Amino acid sequence: MTKRQLEELLKDMSLQEKIDQMVQLPAGVLMKNGREIITGPLSDLHITQEELDGLGSILGTYDPDELNRIQKEQMERQPHHIPMLFMLDVIHGMKTVYPSPLGQGATFDPDLVRDCASMAAKEASLLGVHVTFSPMADLCRDARWGRVMEGTGEDPYLNGRMTAAMVEGYQGHDMQEPYKICACVKHFAGYGAPTAGRDYTAAQLSRHTFLEYYLSGYRAGIRAGAGMVMTSFNTVEDIPATGNQTLMRDVLRGELGFKGVLISDYGAVKELIAHGYASDKDDAAAKALTAGVDIDMVSDCYSDHLAEQIRSGKISESLLNEAVMRILELKNKLGLFEHPYRYADKKEAERFILSDDNRKLARRAAQESIVLLKNEDDILPLYGGVRVSKSGENQDNTERQNIRNKLALIGPYADSRSLLSSWAVAGEQKDVVTIREALEECGAGTLLTAKGCPMIGRDEICYNCESRETDSLSDQELCEMEEEALRAAREADQVILCVGEHFLQSGESASRTELLIPAVQQDLMRKVAQVNSNLITVVVTGRPLDLREVVKLSKAVLIAWFPGTEGGHAVADILTGATSPQGKLPMSFPYCTGQEPISYNAFSSGRPMPEGKHLRFFSGYSDAPNEPLYPFGYGLTYTDFSLTDPTLDRDVMSQEDKITASAVLTNIGKRSGTETVQLYIRDLSASVVRPVRELKGFQKVKLEAGQSCRVSFPIDISMLEFLRADGTFGAEKGKFQVFISRSSAEGRPAEFTLQ
Ligand code: GLC
Repeated sequence: MTKRQLEELLKDMSLQEKIDQMVQLPAGVLMKNGREIITGPLSDLHITQEELDGLGSILGTYDPDELNRIQKEQMERQPHHIPMLFMLDVIHGMKTVYPSPLGQGATFDPDLVRDCASMAAKEASLLGVHVTFSPMADLCRDARWGRVMEGTGEDPYLNGRMTAAMVEGYQGHDMQEPYKICACVKHFAGYGAPTAGRDYTAAQLSRHTFLEYYLSGYRAGIRAGAGMVMTSFNTVEDIPATGNQTLMRDVLRGELGFKGVLISDYGAVKELIAHGYASDKDDAAAKALTAGVDIDMVSDCYSDHLAEQIRSGKISESLLNEAVMRILELKNKLGLFEHPYRYADKKEAERFILSDDNRKLARRAAQESIVLLKNEDDILPLYGGVRVSKSGENQDNTERQNIRNKLALIGPYADSRSLLSSWAVAGEQKDVVTIREALEECGAGTLLTAKGCPMIGRDEICYNCESRETDSLSDQELCEMEEEALRAAREADQVILCVGEHFLQSGESASRTELLIPAVQQDLMRKVAQVNSNLITVVVTGRPLDLREVVKLSKAVLIAWFPGTEGGHAVADILTGATSPQGKLPMSFPYCTGQEPISYNAFSSGRPMPEGKHLRFFSGYSDAPNEPLYPFGYGLTYTDFSLTDPTLDRDVMSQEDKITASAVLTNIGKRSGTETVQLYIRDLSASVVRPVRELKGFQKVKLEAGQSCRVSFPIDISMLEFLRADGTFGAEKGKFQVFISRSSAEGRPAEFTLQ
């Protein structure tokens, strides 16, 4: 449709039709077959048949035949035969599930992340989906908040790079391209900074911190062309985002220039009442529409409480028209007027979904996401990096003794298909390869597998995890589980302990006050460590955890995140050395929960603690260090690298030109490896305080043993700009430090002056 045709259509629509376009309901209201995914509290919705007949969009299902039937029947009923939009949370893969977004952040590989999103878009579009509620662009610095699992970490630059990559992967250059879907950048805005780490609470941020750091991911997603933005549940400057005109009209539409569709989060329009910001549904509908919310997701505020206020003139119909026009434009961008069934095709879907290529991509993403935190005595890789053939014969006799090794594979994740996160809504555990299956497939010596304990102990608090396997297990059975594991540990040369969070312990509505692996698993780990000190621990988790005891008792520690459908293969590939670990932490792993929120790019304070000291009257704790257990950007490989101090081609820079910083990276180990070299900059003095370091670039470099290469980073004025005290963006003259390092906690700086 042309713009003019859309305008004609809008002009011809009745008031009821327009309002119907602005309502989104759970797919169940129209479904006859298929699976409905519920992603929020079910509330009583007073929806009339007439409102159903004109419904603009639904969320929460996928099935090409069912969605084609719904589209056909709805268009027949709709007075202007306007096609519907079908939306779903395709968060980290559709049927082929790749690592949870925090794991994707750990890859430091935007191209890979883009490819994954593109694959997800094709699987989703073949199953009838038009819009995904992804990427979550919220900056995440508080690991108590369960939704850090869905973000790409604590750094604005990395967050921005990954958000843009996901938008590009989902949408391509034009949403009408085959198998592309519309991306929805969420949750606007500041949702990642909930008070006390508790979901849905207020974001208490200074305006400067909010605009400078917390907007970075959304800004990048909008610049990448995202067709939709979703409001957040939290308040911003004490006004709920979903009714916040300043946030939505001045910042989102004005400053960020967003012209697409703004959808509320699930029930968030009606929740303006619970916030105490709206007195009733009339008031909630009026405030949300005035703020610029185009679609009311799963509430009856728009459907039941707009028409009268428009007719009475209390709300201007022009507000309605602009909202409906944006919705029609999005449907037009997706080509729905000409092709209402788009790419929904069951046969084609069956051919493409979970294909070998898709699994290979998911496996590579999982491999690159895994972070090696510790590797004492080079206990890993198990076979010295020798590719182990199926028959168990290795290709290099020097490692033969390893092949005879007995491995004990212990823990609730040892042979579990639960490697998908709580947001892998379309993924199925039946398609997941377990760690045990993968290790057996590659002939990894003699494998003694024993679960050892349940995921969560009977008396442990996890409100999300109602039904527990411990409910069905007697004390005797629990003892036998443990004894079997300890027997295996005693008999084995090495123990691979696979532990971690229950998948419902992270994600939405999964805030935690103690960031530990479940106590029952911690207890098993202690007992295993007593009988075998060659302990290699794999941690499956949606978030940073307090791993002090895990690290103390293990010779090696791997973070696998929620690795997805190919997670078992990826973990086995890293354990056996078929591929080397290269992941880097996208969030700090705290020394303890009490340090949260914690991030490397903090402000200095007027009394920064001298490194390694614990002095009174300096900023620090009396019972813990300031530093996290593992910092942002940290991750080991199976080799080792040296990096020289950075050198600059000039130490004075003018506003117009650029300087180049570089350092020489050398693989000083015995095998090839990939290092992520990171560029950090510090502005030593400015009109507002600036972080002690800020990531401004990174390069992944693969080197053979003994190889060196110079890694260079151009630095231009745009990398020095920030939100100045006068409210304008720009750089300020003065001294800057440049770090080129392998994590946010290493490296000695070079200095330059901006004139
Ligand atoms: C949920 C989430 C949001 C999701 C939406 C639709 O409450 O906050 O991230 O996209 O509802 O499922």
